[in-house]
Amino acid sequence: MADFSRIFCYQNPVSNPFRIGVVGSGKGSNFAAIADAIAAGRVPAEVAMVLSEVADAGILALARDRKLPAQHIPPGTYRTKLDEEAERAFVKALQDARVDLIVLAGFMRVLKGDFLRAFEGRIINIHPSLLPSFPGLAAWKQALDYGVKVSGCTVHFVDAGVDSGAIIGQRTVPVMDTDTAETLHQRIHAAEHQLYPECVAAIARGEISVQGRRVIWKK
Ligand code: GRF
Repeated sequence: MADFSRIFCYQNPVSNPFRIGVVGSGKGSNFAAIADAIAAGRVPAEVAMVLSEVADAGILALARDRKLPAQHIPPGTYRTKLDEEAERAFVKALQDARVDLIVLAGFMRVLKGDFLRAFEGRIINIHPSLLPSFPGLAAWKQALDYGVKVSGCTVHFVDAGVDSGAIIGQRTVPVMDTDTAETLHQRIHAAEHQLYPECVAAIARGEISVQGRRVIWKK
């Protein structure tokens, strides 16, 4: 497991304003929530780049609507990860954009060593369950099928495992007896749109520190 206390680097100077790169494969509602929170002055950051491996992903359209830099980079031959050439292109685009933080927002591929090393301790993700319960795909359905009464979402640092990095923030939602996978997913998604901008804002303000696996909020 990564030693987040060693690699977490926001004690060092970062750009002003704080620059985020957003990477996603899907419709981009979390990206939109963060971009809206920035526009409303609730997150002291700017979106320096939005990347997707899916040419017609909603996240790219939403970025272009907002006149933000957006780029499609083909993923190569694999289904669950980027091939080496694609990985190099993602890393280069994010380095060229001088991002301080990479925000994964519905990115459906596992990040491997070279990408993680290039941005060690500076990649975060949102997952639609209360980790460490229900990592992996369709977490809301896993939770419903298991029969839990409370679920939610988790923002966490990204390490080499699947949804296993240090937890930055979590938000709970109730699971109703009448829920379907769809209705529970919608409730979790709404919670994500609150939690993710709050976590990005705290990081951008330098308000969190990392002690082993524990992420401490100073305010
Ligand atoms: C979210 O549910 C998030 O938890 C998961 O992927 C989904 C992305 O949704 N990692 P969106 O593209 O932000 O709407």
